[in-house]
Amino acid sequence: MSDISAAGYLWETARKKFLLLSFHESLLFSNNVDRQRGTMKIFISGIAGFLGSHIADKMIKNGHEVTGCDTLIGGYLDNIPDEAEFHQVDCCYLNTMVKLTKGCDIVYHTACTAYEGLSVFSPHLISQNTYQITATMLSAAIANNVGRFVHCSSMARYGQQHTVPFREKMECKPQDPYGIAKYAGELLVRNLCEIHGMDYVIAVPHNIIGPRQKYDDPFRNVAAIMINLMLQNRQPIIYGDGTQKRCFSYIDDVIYCLERLAFNSDVTGEIFNIGPDEEFVTINELAELIADKLNFKLDPIHVPERPQEVFLATCSADKARSRLGYHTRTTLSESIERMIGYVREKGTKKFRYHLDIEIVNEKCPRTWVDRLF
Ligand SMILES: NC(=O)c1ccc[n+]([C@@H]2O[C@H](COP(=O)([O-])OP(=O)(O)OC[C@H]3O[C@@H](n4cnc5c(N)ncnc54)[C@H](O)[C@@H]3O)[C@@H](O)[C@H]2O)c1
Repeated sequence: MSDISAAGYLWETARKKFLLLSFHESLLFSNNVDRQRGTMKIFISGIAGFLGSHIADKMIKNGHEVTGCDTLIGGYLDNIPDEAEFHQVDCCYLNTMVKLTKGCDIVYHTACTAYEGLSVFSPHLISQNTYQITATMLSAAIANNVGRFVHCSSMARYGQQHTVPFREKMECKPQDPYGIAKYAGELLVRNLCEIHGMDYVIAVPHNIIGPRQKYDDPFRNVAAIMINLMLQNRQPIIYGDGTQKRCFSYIDDVIYCLERLAFNSDVTGEIFNIGPDEEFVTINELAELIADKLNFKLDPIHVPERPQEVFLATCSADKARSRLGYHTRTTLSESIERMIGYVREKGTKKFRYHLDIEIVNEKCPRTWVDRLF
């Protein structure tokens, strides 16, 4: 490195450090969430989605300026709060992302085609909208010296492990294209943020439920699909024998953590599981719980299991409890009641087979090929 470029490098490093310090200095520690002084500019990728729109609400409520983008491949347009500036555009458009993230203090990257089961059959679609968009968002955020990048990963990063609950330090063994793309996205976040000195945090949510979640999508959101079906007096369809187990988080509990991941000063460069580790239920038990709430006579239809489905999936919340002050505020029973209330209010919907299945063969679930939902 020549003297001039070495001096340039030192100057650039010092400048970035100053920007990071300024960012941290704009935070005041209070009550386990660092309180922000003044308005921040926040960009949310996937703002029409379930998670993105709730983050937008929270940030607007806290007095911040929110801009976001979404292609509407998932999510619902009416999820987006009126006060947010919305751009219907793909995160893959680098020049547009550079323009939109200019001057932003925080980027929440939630955009994704989060279709774990489908990813085995549509790897092109899922990788493009999981890994590639992360590269683009990072490039734009780093070019603009954004203060912090909050990356939404997924518990799919863990894959099938020998023990549960999954802990942040476990070796990742993703076992489908979605999990692989999510984990690769995390590696990219760490790599680029560390090289260029951008502050980052990685959130690992589990199965989230709550209002605004898509319930007419045949490819994901098991609880929402079951509610939409049972409210139409139709039996739920269960892959395999239904003894696979999951933990569900209510959206407000997830937002509580995501707010802290953006504003707390002691979490940078870290990864956090987000969600409860209580109430580990089988898919059969989940169907029974929903049926009980709806007084529905349950006789589920069982179809062959999906390739690569993880059998036991639950994450430890120990780190979130000790570092973010997390505790589960909403039980599974209450979460289901609120989700039922939401679907009732919006009205049941016909399922939309809106995504291409790239590989249609004998392994592809009949639920999708024959449109059984
Ligand atoms: N909901 C869960 O249970 C859950 C669990 C673990 C992780 N996550 C992660 O949380 C994030 C949000 O999930 P969600 O449940 O809110 O999903 P969602 O589908 O409701 O929201 C994602 C949004 O991203 C948008 N999007 C997809 N590709 C895009 C692109 N190329 N450009 C712009 N917008 C694009 C979709 O249209 C959608 O509105 C995802 O990264 C997901 O992997 C969710």
